[in-house]
Amino acid sequence: MNPAAKYPVSILCVDDEPANTDLIKRHLAACVDEIIVAADGQQGHELFLKHLPDMVLTDLMMPYVDGLQMSRMVRSVAPKVPIILMTSCSSIDFLPEAIDIGITQFLPKPLLKNKLLTAVKRCYETVELERRLLNAQKLESLGVLAGGVAHNFNNILTAIIGNTDLALNLLPPSSPVKEYLKIIENSAFRAAGIAKQMMDCAGKGGFKIDQININLMLDGMREMLQFTVPKGVAIRFILDDQLPYLKADSEQMRQIVTNLVINAVEAVENRDGSITISTGIMECDHAYLVDCWHDNGVEEGRYVFLEIADTGCGMDKEIIAKLFDPFFSTKFIGRGLGMAAVFGIVRSHKGAIHIVSTPGAGSTFRILFPASAETAACLAGGSHA
Ligand SMILES: Nc1ncnc2c1ncn2[C@@H]1O[C@H](COP(=O)(O)OP(=O)(O)O)[C@@H](O)[C@H]1O
Ligand SMILES: [Mg+2]
Repeated sequence: MNPAAKYPVSILCVDDEPANTDLIKRHLAACVDEIIVAADGQQGHELFLKHLPDMVLTDLMMPYVDGLQMSRMVRSVAPKVPIILMTSCSSIDFLPEAIDIGITQFLPKPLLKNKLLTAVKRCYETVELERRLLNAQKLESLGVLAGGVAHNFNNILTAIIGNTDLALNLLPPSSPVKEYLKIIENSAFRAAGIAKQMMDCAGKGGFKIDQININLMLDGMREMLQFTVPKGVAIRFILDDQLPYLKADSEQMRQIVTNLVINAVEAVENRDGSITISTGIMECDHAYLVDCWHDNGVEEGRYVFLEIADTGCGMDKEIIAKLFDPFFSTKFIGRGLGMAAVFGIVRSHKGAIHIVSTPGAGSTFRILFPASAETAACLAGGSHA
């Protein structure tokens, strides 16, 4: 296990032997956010209700309320919280009940640091996966809502744009009304642009799947991107020339790049800085995917990635938690569809997003797309774009 790993979780540690809780605190102090200590099952239950920790580590044998009784009480309010049961018991009589309660991990006593850290790491992965799934469900509901509104909105806009066009054609060129109709038409086109992003949030942005080569696509966008980036900001490309083709909608891929680069430019603002666009291929295992944003059901394997990194303002945990919500913005009112659309597009391509960001120190967005065996065989350098 990586000794530097730090998990953003709180853990309730229940043991009637202070020497054990002291030892656990020493072992875990550097790798979790918070350790809450209870001296028996009764206190453990009370502290669980008070603090709602992310996971529980409990001794089996304790006076009054033992580890299993407490775990049952905890499970009745938090059916999914991971529970690690520590025991020095040589008998396995407790096992049927422990299995019935759904104890997540068992640890023999005396405790070995390595085993304890591995158990905490596994529980963290369960907690994180649950968080991500809840988030994905929330985003899916918001996406359905945004998509439904956009669909109705589009029908109305079609009537506005169509009828404005008819009226414009019927008017003599010198009519002063034309100017006002043009304003109506332009506003309706702007609204249609917003509706399009809302459709993207729902993963309903209209699909045309091609074999595309992200490198060639980026080459085609280079000039436009350089134009978007202000003078003090350097834009660099690090493209992997062994990149496989991808089955994707090229228009939507361009949309992802545009939205991410605009955000990167806004994050760097007026200071000097840099934006780096990279592509590559990587193996994603379970542990890496747990750390990514995605829909239910992404699988371990090879992924093609597109990465956009900036040296801008970075984001704190609160911003990252809301980043993909439609209309979430720390900028101007009426914005906040860029990342929601990126997530909708990535989700509909069965991809994932990995984010590293630190306030004041920039952000890196790695967008991952599954590289199927078929596409992996077909290396970049051809004529598709
Ligand atoms: N590269 C970035 N650096 C810092 N913050 C970012 C970055 N990308 C997105 N954000 C944050 O996420 C929010 C949502 O982004 P987005 O959906 O594109 O909406 P908007 O850019 O219109 O505010 C932004 O307001 C900003 O707070
Ligand atoms: Mg944006």
